[in-house]
Amino acid sequence: MKLEPSKVIWFNGELVPWEKATVHVLTHALHYGSGVFEGIRAYKTVQGTAVMGLKEHVARLFQSCKLINLQLRWTESQISDAIRATVRENGHDACYIRPLAFSGYGALGVHPGDNPVELAIATFPWKGHFTPESLAQGVDVCVSSRRRMAPDTHPAMAKCTGNYVNSMLIVAEARQHGYADGIALDYTGYVSEGSGQNIFLLYDGRLLTPPVGASILAGYTRRCILQVAKDLDIPTVEQAIPREMLYTSSEVFLCGTAAEVLPVRSVDRRQVGSGARGPVTEKIQKRFFATLRGELDDKHHWLTPV
Ligand SMILES: Cc1ncc(COP(=O)(O)O)c(C=O)c1O
Repeated sequence: MKLEPSKVIWFNGELVPWEKATVHVLTHALHYGSGVFEGIRAYKTVQGTAVMGLKEHVARLFQSCKLINLQLRWTESQISDAIRATVRENGHDACYIRPLAFSGYGALGVHPGDNPVELAIATFPWKGHFTPESLAQGVDVCVSSRRRMAPDTHPAMAKCTGNYVNSMLIVAEARQHGYADGIALDYTGYVSEGSGQNIFLLYDGRLLTPPVGASILAGYTRRCILQVAKDLDIPTVEQAIPREMLYTSSEVFLCGTAAEVLPVRSVDRRQVGSGARGPVTEKIQKRFFATLRGELDDKHHWLTPV
């Protein structure tokens, strides 16, 4: 994601110029991964700019803070207001939104002591990781040699910065071998998720996805897909998924704020289904994107106007 600077960043309660939102090199989070973040998008809808899953993303930010013992000085509604204000001030009609809370400058032991907990909210234009062709034709992925963290190690449910070394290595290995991304298994060897996406498989007419207990980040998009599937009368099951099912599914897709709904056409060079976007994936994509553009009734209240 190549950054295109915007005008301002919300930093500890104030809107400051983009280039002034800086920290000291001895900031605790830079050394120990003691930060949490969110990835949110605002879409241009026919009714104006709207943030997707604002309440849920802010709630997950608080949950992540709790899981790594960061105490924020702002409430959920203050942060939601700050996000909307930043999008407005930067004049975006569509953008990526990156709130980041972290243990700041002060003590430099592993224990953060009473370091200040800082919060920044950046917004910037962004077209997404994946091209329109990938969204239409699907991508090639591999199963990663690197697993997701075991449940008694890092808190997989927290979107904390330290966890993303795992994601970074998964995607780097995949790219090195010519794949768009990698699918990680969990510590028991069942399918977990992509480097920054949850995964769904269409198997015998049912839509399967790994449960939260498979060391996944419980994605907001995953939740939306489960709602869309219900609306479309597609049965869904959260269950342990053996790796073999990736190869024998009729359809596979990844989902997330960045990936949106991204078809997978092969895993480990083995063709999935017809080797192209499957009809169920396409149906889900259509419903998902039409809601985001404000063309369909937002019956599950995904969108918040800025
Ligand atoms: C590891 C990981 N899994 C899944 C997701 C998908 O989550 P969401 O749909 O909330 O963006 C993300 C993206 O935030 C992620 O980083």
